[in-house]
Amino acid sequence: MKGERVTVREIVKRYGSVTAVEGVSVDVKAGEFLSLLGPSGSGKTTLLMMIAGFELPTAGLIEIGATDVTYVAPNKRNVGMVFQKYALFPHMSVKDNVAFPLRMRKIDRAQIARRVGEALAMVQLDAYGSRMPTQLSGGQQQRVALARALVFEPPVLLMDEPLARSTRNFANSCRSRSRHFSSVLALPSSM
Ligand SMILES: Nc1ncnc2c1ncn2[C@@H]1O[C@H](COP(=O)(O)OP(=O)(O)OP(=O)(O)O)[C@@H](O)[C@H]1O
Ligand SMILES: [Mg+2]
Repeated sequence: MKGERVTVREIVKRYGSVTAVEGVSVDVKAGEFLSLLGPSGSGKTTLLMMIAGFELPTAGLIEIGATDVTYVAPNKRNVGMVFQKYALFPHMSVKDNVAFPLRMRKIDRAQIARRVGEALAMVQLDAYGSRMPTQLSGGQQQRVALARALVFEPPVLLMDEPLARSTRNFANSCRSRSRHFSSVLALPSSM
């Protein structure tokens, strides 16, 4: 897998009188790594949420590969996303958090156990599978969220500021160890 191309054309998102994203176009080639830099409130999260399918655009078009996904449900897009906050399910162990996307996809139990182990090893948290999210540091929680976003090997990975300071290096090293994917990273412009 080499990742899928992501094309965003003239995307607009309005919340009533607030325009969160105004006519943004982005072209990420297969396997490419794109960082979006912008100040607070500039629309980075909104743009990623539209690419992942959690928000519907007011106007514009989103394609993944050759498919128009503008109005396709999030679980049908094969996009992994690491959210800016409230990343983990608080009532589930680390292992169960990472297993969640695989359970949603009805993968068999043996394979789930293997892939969860691999994903946790990739973020250097193999020993933490049985812990609850509250028993982890903030950075460790973000790494679990990254493992959960990567565990189903999505061709597209979106990261909204997590792992902020080390993001690019860390994600790059994950990327070289995992299969290839296209990725879009949102970072505050002050960093
Ligand atoms: N549900 C909503 N209703 C109304 N306005 C919203 C909503 N969500 C976001 N906004 C507004 O849209 C704009 C873009 O917000 P967004 O969260 O995308 O910014 P951001 O670039 O991710 O900022 P930050 O760097 O602080 O995370 C902001 O002005 C925000 O107040
Ligand atoms: Mg944001």
